[in-house]
Amino acid sequence: MSSDLLTITDLGPEGVAEILALSERTELGRPLAGKGAALVFQKPSARTRNSTELAVVQLGGHPVYIQKDEVGLDTRETAEDVARTLACYHAVIAARVMDHSHLTRMADAVSIPVVNRLSDKDHPLQALADILTMNQLLGKLEGAKVAYVGDADNNVARSLAQACVAVGAELTLASPDGYALRDAPDGVRQVADPTEAVKGARFVYTDVWVSMGQDDEADARMKAFAGYRVDEALMAKAEDAWFLHCLPARRGEEVTHGVMESAKSAVWRQAENRMHTARGALAWVLS
Ligand code: CP
Ligand code: NVA
Repeated sequence: MSSDLLTITDLGPEGVAEILALSERTELGRPLAGKGAALVFQKPSARTRNSTELAVVQLGGHPVYIQKDEVGLDTRETAEDVARTLACYHAVIAARVMDHSHLTRMADAVSIPVVNRLSDKDHPLQALADILTMNQLLGKLEGAKVAYVGDADNNVARSLAQACVAVGAELTLASPDGYALRDAPDGVRQVADPTEAVKGARFVYTDVWVSMGQDDEADARMKAFAGYRVDEALMAKAEDAWFLHCLPARRGEEVTHGVMESAKSAVWRQAENRMHTARGALAWVLS
């Protein structure tokens, strides 16, 4: 029996806790010995591709990186036919897609696990690394205040919101009109004022204002988010908070260079934890 991992909600609090426990272990055996992992990427990636490839190697398997034009989801052949073909050779499919429905359709078409490596809606592997990072820094996340400032209706914010609910952290999202998280889970607070969001927060998180695939909205987004940059003054209004960012960051837009480089920036710890959660999550879906 294998499991897909398309959203944090799929996992629930138990699944999140199980993956985090696996992610703390460096030795998880070789469940992929002699097997392949198909990594389908429709968008660029530094952290996700590299952490996933290395996680596959650490679990004894062989990663095959496949760029969008090589398989052509719904252009060269249907997403279902791509998934069925890859399932003839591989033990798992990990995919970064433009359209989340490609993931659900591939998952429905095959019995091997399909894992979301970022879609337009969700970025669950990022959220698992974020929770692992916050746990390491604070010890206990239940009741801890987390603030997210900026584009609250994006993939990173959505998965972070679901993950915070799963571990009992208190998340406040601050976004301008029109960019609030549309399907926020119960228990997540949404405000317009970044200062209100960061009050008492132990973590202040942001992401780019223009996500991959949104370039035609860039001008409107730069205007809408102008008051939402995480700078030293905003960080000072939180409670000795750690700064978090999924990366890549656009210094001078959603965050200042100074905040990125400050002693309270945990962004490289997050990046490293992508490795550990990639391995833990793969072991979990294969178990
Ligand atoms: N955070 C993240 O997913 O980075 P990449 O786009 O480089 O994989
Ligand atoms: N929201 C960003 C995250 C990148 C890891 C994007 O989708 O481009």
